[in-house]
Amino acid sequence: MSSLFDNQVPLMKPWLDEEEWYAMKDVILSGWVSQGPKVKEFEQKVAAYIGVKHAVAMNACTSAMHIAMKIAGVKYGDEVIVADSTCMANVNAINMAGAVPVFVDIDPDTYNIDPKLIEAKITSKTKVIMNIDQIGLSNDLDALKAICDKHNLTLLDDAATAFGGKYKGKFLGNHNVMATYSFHPRKMITTGEGGMLVTDNDDIAEQARILRATGASVSDLDRHKAKGLILQKYYDSGYNYRMTDMQAAMGIVQLTKIDAMLEQRKYQAEYYNQHLAAISDLQLPFVPEYADPAWSSYCIKIKPESKKTVQEVLQTLAAANISARFGIQPLHQEPYFENQNYKDEDFPVSCTVADQTFFVPIYPGMTEQQQQHIVQTLKQIFQS
Ligand SMILES: Cc1ncc(COP(=O)(O)O)c(C=O)c1O
Repeated sequence: MSSLFDNQVPLMKPWLDEEEWYAMKDVILSGWVSQGPKVKEFEQKVAAYIGVKHAVAMNACTSAMHIAMKIAGVKYGDEVIVADSTCMANVNAINMAGAVPVFVDIDPDTYNIDPKLIEAKITSKTKVIMNIDQIGLSNDLDALKAICDKHNLTLLDDAATAFGGKYKGKFLGNHNVMATYSFHPRKMITTGEGGMLVTDNDDIAEQARILRATGASVSDLDRHKAKGLILQKYYDSGYNYRMTDMQAAMGIVQLTKIDAMLEQRKYQAEYYNQHLAAISDLQLPFVPEYADPAWSSYCIKIKPESKKTVQEVLQTLAAANISARFGIQPLHQEPYFENQNYKDEDFPVSCTVADQTFFVPIYPGMTEQQQQHIVQTLKQIFQS
């Protein structure tokens, strides 16, 4: 069967096979296709893997972040601190909670929000610091927790891209703060679309379960098990952020492959590290001592003294049938924020990083031959 990925090395490709297909087929034939027993099983398995008490599955990470902010008490007009270099989904979730995003520049080495710059942006309206463990690499969570403790703020750790990544030897999501994951196909495991909120706190988990399913005090599954003898109550207005059992069945299979997928990504990152080290124009990814990256992306920086531009590099890679991408762009430059009068000079690092970085393919299933082709093409570009 021909595929969208024929004849090119894609930037990434989910690792799916017939196992996921059969698992979903069984759900379809069972007749229970909305949130039900498979979602519960997926939640329990994710929680056990991460080592956290509760996992609450949703239809997207954006929804999980929205609910996390509602639970943190974010109200209309409150401020949420967030990195300038991230995807629009983070700001969308802040908007959905009625709050205002306050951008902070990033660290030049990790590309994550720079903890040293946060305190200057805290006001009486700040409620949450939304940290993003960007491109699979943990930020310094202890530094962020210390700021939150000092200013009585909630830390929300968006580990959307970093399922399986670790901070100080423990999985992201297992650090006593609300954390979220995405299961979009570009993430570490996929359910097509999907997300998860993880927490050790019983009350937070209970509120999240209620809010994701219309605000009903009893889930459809529990009502079904009680044969209709219990009646739900509505103490709050909620959302329809439920994951389907078909997605959860796919997620359960994906979870059985996570260790193998992490291993492959780590091997591929080490291969790039080893084979690109000799190209003096390039700065390869920095890994702080506290982090074990999930390697959801491999981000390369072109040093300022190089004569090559990201645009040229991407064009040459595309001509060699290799999909690569620009690095993360600063959100403050998006047309949506046109009327806010942000200035580039207030975000020097995110602007520079956007101009100088690009992503190359990294994904389970990429062959050594494909990776050699990428390395060879980069060598030709920079050594010509
Ligand atoms: C860092 C980050 N957070 C959140 C999201 C949103 O995830 P979802 O598409 O599951 O809502 C993304 C998606 O690209 C992301 O990269």
